[in-house]
Amino acid sequence: MSKNISKLSGRIGLKNNLFQKISDRSLNSNNSDGIKEIAEEYNMGVSTIHGAESFYEFLRPAHRKKKAFVCNGSACMCAGTQDSIKKKLKEKLGDDKVGEMFCLGHCYENSSFHYNGENYAGNNIDKIDQIIKGENITQQKFVSKSFASTSFLMDDKLLNLNQFKSLLEKFINFDKKEIVKSILNSNLSGRGGAGFPTGLKWDFCSKEKSEKKYVICNADEGDSGAFSDRYLLEDQPLKVLFGMIICGYVIGSNEGVLYIRGEYPKSIEAINGSINELKSSKLLGENILGTNFSFNLNICIGQGAYICGEETALIASIEGRRAEVDVRPPFPVTEGLYKKPTVVNNVETLAAVTGILICGSNKFSSIGNKKSAGTKLVCFDSFFNNPGVYEIDMCTPMKKIINEIGGGFKEPVKALQIGGPLGGVVPVKEVEKLNLDFQEFTAAGFMLGHASIVSIPKDFNMVEYIHHLFEFSAEESCGKCFPGRLGSYRGKEMFDQIKNKSAKIPLKLLNELLITMQKGCLCALCGAIPMPIMNILKYFGDEMKNDIVSDN
Ligand SMILES: Cc1cc2nc3c(=O)[nH]c(=O)nc-3n(C[C@H](O)[C@H](O)[C@H](O)COP(=O)(O)O)c2cc1C
Repeated sequence: MSKNISKLSGRIGLKNNLFQKISDRSLNSNNSDGIKEIAEEYNMGVSTIHGAESFYEFLRPAHRKKKAFVCNGSACMCAGTQDSIKKKLKEKLGDDKVGEMFCLGHCYENSSFHYNGENYAGNNIDKIDQIIKGENITQQKFVSKSFASTSFLMDDKLLNLNQFKSLLEKFINFDKKEIVKSILNSNLSGRGGAGFPTGLKWDFCSKEKSEKKYVICNADEGDSGAFSDRYLLEDQPLKVLFGMIICGYVIGSNEGVLYIRGEYPKSIEAINGSINELKSSKLLGENILGTNFSFNLNICIGQGAYICGEETALIASIEGRRAEVDVRPPFPVTEGLYKKPTVVNNVETLAAVTGILICGSNKFSSIGNKKSAGTKLVCFDSFFNNPGVYEIDMCTPMKKIINEIGGGFKEPVKALQIGGPLGGVVPVKEVEKLNLDFQEFTAAGFMLGHASIVSIPKDFNMVEYIHHLFEFSAEESCGKCFPGRLGSYRGKEMFDQIKNKSAKIPLKLLNELLITMQKGCLCALCGAIPMPIMNILKYFGDEMKNDIVSDN
């Protein structure tokens, strides 16, 4: 069934993209007008279109009736700012006009909310009257700085079109195999979480025989604590786009799509602006720089579903299907968008490729080790004395990262959640024993992931934190596998009971639930969420000893 929908959607393709069409219809109308027409145009049943539309938070009537949305991400939760922001917004707009959104990427200042297509944070709430009147208010920009021995991501080597043109001229006349070799030699591994070697992914896809292939940039950064992709999209957009174009050249693709979350309006504006500049300078489009290489780029705007960051759900979303995870294999490199060979890469991975092509693969591979090579963006939330996004050499000691680069904490912090809601919850004392190294984190029972850091203050109730994690997976699960769909809800229910003091939890039952989810879920949303919960039980179990009881 899903193959059939992919193919039907693929007939029309990205130019008149089904997902965008469904989103536009839903956002611009209050009733069901147009669903039938879309279904007819794409040769699908009305229920298929309705099924896809109803998957997305932003497209639901209840969401569309609201005017403001408070960030319910982990960083804003730990900062304790959500209730007061919600109260102030409700006073101005009415109780039923205020909803929630998951992480707006302002973790460096918190107090974040969305109003009328813009994100606000920090002390912006004090200017709510001006905001409602539509006046422009000053927004705090995050600090960004490179501490790397060589900067691949934050340097100024690709900030304008002239630099872009000369670099493109060089590389689209280069031997494709040499480019793959260079990426392989750099030891770059994907920065989106799974860590697959980028050179291998490009090599596999380049060897696929197909008239049509696609490049997808995964800009669905939804991890709370992370705003590194946001930094690249807004401050280094040409690095990201260059990586996509070169990927197209290497694998033999003439079309790419950048899937970007709707929660990032400034990033959408920045990347759209750069794409338009490249198009009008003929650095994107047909026969680029007089060669026979053509490459077109499209944007798809996400509609409030965290799972769309998972690559198979992301592909389903672009195709206009419900964004459910697919079983792999086949992997996207062989059967991806519209069932054609596709490279899916994270924003930071693509920007790193550009950096490697500019600075040389040896420089990249000489930093860190074989499996954790080069530099990485790391984000600090507002508990740090130096909140912001920093480029750091892989394998740098975490102690140095936290205390010197991050400047230590403004108030006592007991643990860090590193790598988003699916990343480990690491006691500060434990994290100080580690280096910025993917394998070291995994071996210690955590996950480095995208390297975003959310600080959990000393007096934060860990029952509340586990509840937040179960609630997150219950809300964001795609619903395809039942250990994920049901398990997340049962977990949330258990912690609801602790919170309202109606029951104690048998430890055996909780452990069985966590192991079932870990082993039985289709993807790393509900399959990985048990890890931070197990970390909390291991390191902070004492805080819950009256609520979680062993059976003997
Ligand atoms: C629940 C879930 C959410 C994910 N979210 C993202 C995301 O926001 N951005 C991203 O690049 N990768 C995300 N990933 C990983 C992607 O599935 C995929 O591995 C990645 O985009 C590949 O790019 P890379 O090789 O450059 O890392 C997510 C994975 C899971 C399981």
